[in-house]
Amino acid sequence: MKKITIAIDGFSSTGKSTLAKQLATKLGYVYVDTGAMYRAVTYYMMQNGWVTDNALDKEAIVNALPNVKLHFQFNAELGFAEMYLNGVCVEQEIRTLEVSRFVSKIAEISEVRAKLVEQQQEMGKEKAIVMDGRDIGTVVFPDAELKLFMTASAETRAKRRFDELVEKGQHVTFAEVLQNVQERDYIDTNREDSPLVKASSAIEIDNSSMSKTEQFELVLQMVQDVV
Ligand code: C5P
Repeated sequence: MKKITIAIDGFSSTGKSTLAKQLATKLGYVYVDTGAMYRAVTYYMMQNGWVTDNALDKEAIVNALPNVKLHFQFNAELGFAEMYLNGVCVEQEIRTLEVSRFVSKIAEISEVRAKLVEQQQEMGKEKAIVMDGRDIGTVVFPDAELKLFMTASAETRAKRRFDELVEKGQHVTFAEVLQNVQERDYIDTNREDSPLVKASSAIEIDNSSMSKTEQFELVLQMVQDVV
């Protein structure tokens, strides 16, 4: 069976990572969550006070980029790779609503994107990879053999994200999660550099009323048609 690149793009909380993890496990591929990389950069910049509610110090952020070292490390117990920032696992820290509030602003900065895209392309050069994000099929791997574009209504997505955060013990309201989902969608689709758009060859999947199993089986069939 030939090894391929699977690019999964879409709006926030469309279940991209769940699907990507299922596929990677089934196919024995590497899974890369590129949102985690943007989140880790954001977390670093927040810790240094360069992104706040009122300001974003773009110069300081760009200058600090060489100091940000990211890598993934597979956690066999969890069954997926965790995000490390300068040698420290930040998997929990990067999943907060606070990081979600700032991440799209950091992801608009071209220098940030260039650094992360380069690392992502390096990780995928041997293929056998499932990568999810916003620009995978358009910018990172325009030649990917299978491209998916996931959608679902904003309310469905906010409900999923809300349930996830509550399960992790975070104190959030549904209204603020919905607002964050809508704000990120807006910034991600309207930014100048690599906006979220469906690649022309991507297959669109609206999973608002699809179970995870149904979705997985549908996509697995698509993979089998390509390999
Ligand atoms: O996937 P997740 O929701 O964790 O991504 C967080 C944010 O990172 C997105 O809202 C987007 O602003 C940014 N992102 C991006 N390009 C990617 C992946 C994520 O701009 N490839």
